[in-house]
Amino acid sequence: MSHKVFRYGGDFAEIRIARAQGSYIFDHAGRAILDFTSGQMSGILGHGHPEIVAVVNHMAANLDHLHSGFISDPVVTFADDLTAMLPDSLERVLPLSTGGEANEAALRMAKTVTGGFEVVAFDRSWHGMTGGASAATFSGGRRGHGPTLPGVLTLPTPHAYRSPFNKSGDYDWRAEFEYGWEIIDRQSTGQMAAVIVEPILSSGGIIELPEGYLAALRDKTHARGMLLILDEAQTGMGRTGDHFAFERDGVVPDILNLSKTLGAGLPLSATITSAAVEQDCYDKGFLFYTTHAADPLPAAVGAKVVEIVIRDQLASRARELGDYLKAQLADLQQRHAIIGDVRGRGLLLGVELVTDRQTKAPASDLGMAVSQRCLELGACLNIGRRASAGVFRIAPPLTVSRDEIDSAMAIFDQALGECGTV
Ligand SMILES: Cc1ncc(COP(=O)(O)O)c(C=O)c1O
Repeated sequence: MSHKVFRYGGDFAEIRIARAQGSYIFDHAGRAILDFTSGQMSGILGHGHPEIVAVVNHMAANLDHLHSGFISDPVVTFADDLTAMLPDSLERVLPLSTGGEANEAALRMAKTVTGGFEVVAFDRSWHGMTGGASAATFSGGRRGHGPTLPGVLTLPTPHAYRSPFNKSGDYDWRAEFEYGWEIIDRQSTGQMAAVIVEPILSSGGIIELPEGYLAALRDKTHARGMLLILDEAQTGMGRTGDHFAFERDGVVPDILNLSKTLGAGLPLSATITSAAVEQDCYDKGFLFYTTHAADPLPAAVGAKVVEIVIRDQLASRARELGDYLKAQLADLQQRHAIIGDVRGRGLLLGVELVTDRQTKAPASDLGMAVSQRCLELGACLNIGRRASAGVFRIAPPLTVSRDEIDSAMAIFDQALGECGTV
């Protein structure tokens, strides 16, 4: 190895990145590479957005970090502005740093309020690497480190393209859903606390919940006295064409988690819930005291992200550009037999490669080759691993231009053509 960095997720890419600007990252030779994963699915405003740079500079010089017992104006403003974007019942904000951390907080809130401990999650989920979040993560990372938290039960992911309930092409997600709950109810010890789900599973392979699913899930959840936690790490802040993905379904969660896109690439997350849940947690001595809870610098960044997303109408932009990009992907699907499925909405799109459209045999090695070729040609188009092996997750910044989309798609087309003889 040419460096001393611990390999926390398999191999690193061979190139080293020297700087980043807008929709591009640059290597040390100055070669521009289109960043169609928005960093780690986070940088919705592109790299180095001047208004974010100004906020970071100002806050670093004037009000960076505080004892966690203080709150400051930027934190109050952030909570006000964020909740103003949300339905009335989501009115208390716990500002944190990462997605995993926000999920820990949400799960602890649900356990505190319900007195239960069981958690239901999808069998292709990703909620983070910390204890409770990783116990509820089923798309990878489960082996080799001993037991996870007890009481986590899985619900089958409604994966239209691969579900055994879609044998005839007429996907009966309701039958799958009822079957899943029957099994959960049989396994449960009767102390259920929460259901935690992503409205579009990203690490699981860009899997959208069918329309009506979230409402049915809310009803099952509430019928069992549990809280519904929506993890909108990747789908929040305009990415899917709405400010939040749950808006499409008109289902308001009991707890909403935002991260990744909330800080537009800087470490900021939030767990948002009702005044009643907050009061109940407070009365029961709830503790989630972390070093960076309610830090002013990231909160000021979050308030600026909220301002820009609303002012620049980035959700509508994501919808419009997402339609434009998806049409190009559909065209590629017509011309490349190795594309089995195109899915997702807004600027969170998935392209699943297969070695055979009939059998839908996954094409993970081929996907790695296409991804590598794209990188050589100047576009970072990330291929999933583990549960989403063979699935490209395409998520450029919401500030991306049509020209940049065209360039990335020309590169993808070329790479698919060169690698795609199966
Ligand atoms: C939906 C979702 N939730 C939570 C997380 C974990 O966030 P973090 O890595 O910031 O802890 C991720 C990370 O990929 C995610 O995709």
